Amino acid sequence: MTIAETRATHWQDEVRRLARERDAVILAHNYQEPAIQDVADHVGDSLALSRIAAGTDAGTIVFCGVHFMAETAKLLSPDKTVLIPTAQAGCSLADTIDADQLRAWKAQHPGAAVVAYVNTSAAVKAEADVCCTSSNAVEVVNSIPRDQPVLFLPDQFLGEHVRRQTGRDNIEVWMGECHVHAGISPVDLRAQVAANPTAEVLVHPECGCASSTIWLAGRGDLPAERTHILSTAGMLESARGMKAETALVATEIGMLHQLRKVNQHTTFVPVNPKASCRFMKMITPELLVRCLREGRDEIQLPSEITERARRSVQRMVAIGKAPTA
Ligand code: 13P
Ligand code: SF4
Repeated sequence: MTIAETRATHWQDEVRRLARERDAVILAHNYQEPAIQDVADHVGDSLALSRIAAGTDAGTIVFCGVHFMAETAKLLSPDKTVLIPTAQAGCSLADTIDADQLRAWKAQHPGAAVVAYVNTSAAVKAEADVCCTSSNAVEVVNSIPRDQPVLFLPDQFLGEHVRRQTGRDNIEVWMGECHVHAGISPVDLRAQVAANPTAEVLVHPECGCASSTIWLAGRGDLPAERTHILSTAGMLESARGMKAETALVATEIGMLHQLRKVNQHTTFVPVNPKASCRFMKMITPELLVRCLREGRDEIQLPSEITERARRSVQRMVAIGKAPTA
């Protein structure tokens, strides 16, 4: 064993020991650093982790992800202690809309159902009717009567995907975006497809290239049968049985760790290797140890929004079945 490996083992042992001492379950999002994913009890997408948070017996939930994910866990398990290794881990997409902006938007569209992606603050969730993630956005919108207008927020690319998949023309979409996914462009995708002409193509619906992916596949510029718009859980699912030599992956690069774990035969190539979320990467081994030792940072939610925000998240969790994560 090298010195680095010995250090890593000691660090992981310490995390596991502290977690036992605190009766804590450690959840890690698919975009976390590999070291964090490997030490966690569960790794998954936001929907799968929300479901685990709602059902866990552990007294403490340690959420290695970004702030809105830990808030969602707290909404679903209000009696548990929910910790995040640093409360600074925000989300540029969640920051594109606040509760005042949503109230003003709703006032312009009375009678519309409000569907909020989980990548929003608890205050915004409190103003929504139901939440969704990229795994179940289409199902959630399909659960709303077809003649009722929908306000979908805050991601414009996911909103466009939902419009296409549901075939509804009564969906208004908030023009927010995630800086990481918006930065995965059609130009990047075309260049990678040209360099890897037989590859499978896996694209997260938040990506800047998601709409043009469909358009290019429709025109025959991309291989339609090998092009898939998928949530992170959907990517893992498709990687499990994949026989292709190469797969191009358009999402945050942390995802590659799980894909490579479930399929060692296929070579997974990031469409944009610089697509790294600096908020996700704020969770470091040192901060995880600090979190378990000192019980920080604890998620606290203002009581006036908690009930309404919880209703929106619970409605989402009740729709559809849990994906494999
Ligand atoms: P998932 O819903 O696929 O976990 O994605 C969350 C996210 O932050 C996407 O950038
Ligand atoms: Fe937010 Fe984008 Fe980071 Fe996901 S990848 S947490 S949407 S900033």
